[in-house]
Amino acid sequence: MAASSGLSRKQATLEVRRGNVQIDGIQCKRTATQLSDAQQNGGVTLNSTALFTAKPLYLMLHKPKGYVCANTDADHPTVFDLLNERDFHPNLQGQLQVAGRLDIDTTGLVLITSDGLWNHTVTSPNKKLGKRYLVTTANPIASDSVALFEQGLELRGDSKPTKPAKLIITGSHCAELEITEGRYHQVKRMFAAVGNKVVELHRVRIADITLDDNLAPCEYRTLTAEEVNGF
Ligand code: URA
Repeated sequence: MAASSGLSRKQATLEVRRGNVQIDGIQCKRTATQLSDAQQNGGVTLNSTALFTAKPLYLMLHKPKGYVCANTDADHPTVFDLLNERDFHPNLQGQLQVAGRLDIDTTGLVLITSDGLWNHTVTSPNKKLGKRYLVTTANPIASDSVALFEQGLELRGDSKPTKPAKLIITGSHCAELEITEGRYHQVKRMFAAVGNKVVELHRVRIADITLDDNLAPCEYRTLTAEEVNGF
């Protein structure tokens, strides 16, 4: 209700408790009320105004290079340009957000949702959810990087070292890296801190959600209930 009315969750709760919300024309003061599909499509009013109560949407997208993870951008296409409006309720237009951004030149798993609380759970640093990347570097990856990444690295401009990260070297210039934070350009800055440079970066996993092999770059699908509820 908060997402669809522009109110904060606290304000939305107050509106319900004050009796300003009706479901199918009947006052409802219970904030825990579950809505049927039909009720979610226009059956709810706040002070007589119908709410945009489409069901929340959860998508995984295989991001290609060249797209930015922003709602609008003056210079580049955004990941939202890859979505077909016919795939979701018109009321969700403008409500979709990326849960965990990737840089313009990074490819792979991007989660998109209209559910602000879920987004917060996925991106909250306190949750320490693992994000796994496939990395290709300009220089050979030194074997001592594994221990350095595990210990934590001082990144320029950051007050605290990085949290322990798991680096698995898979080739002279290739590795898999799992981090639990989401700092700005984190993977690139971690490799820069050990004297290397990331030339290709691809995210394959966030927590238990793995990029679907069936999704080609630019393609997306809705998350399964198991993927949505797995946090
Ligand atoms: N770390 C980066 O440096 N870039 C990304 O896109 C994601 C993680």
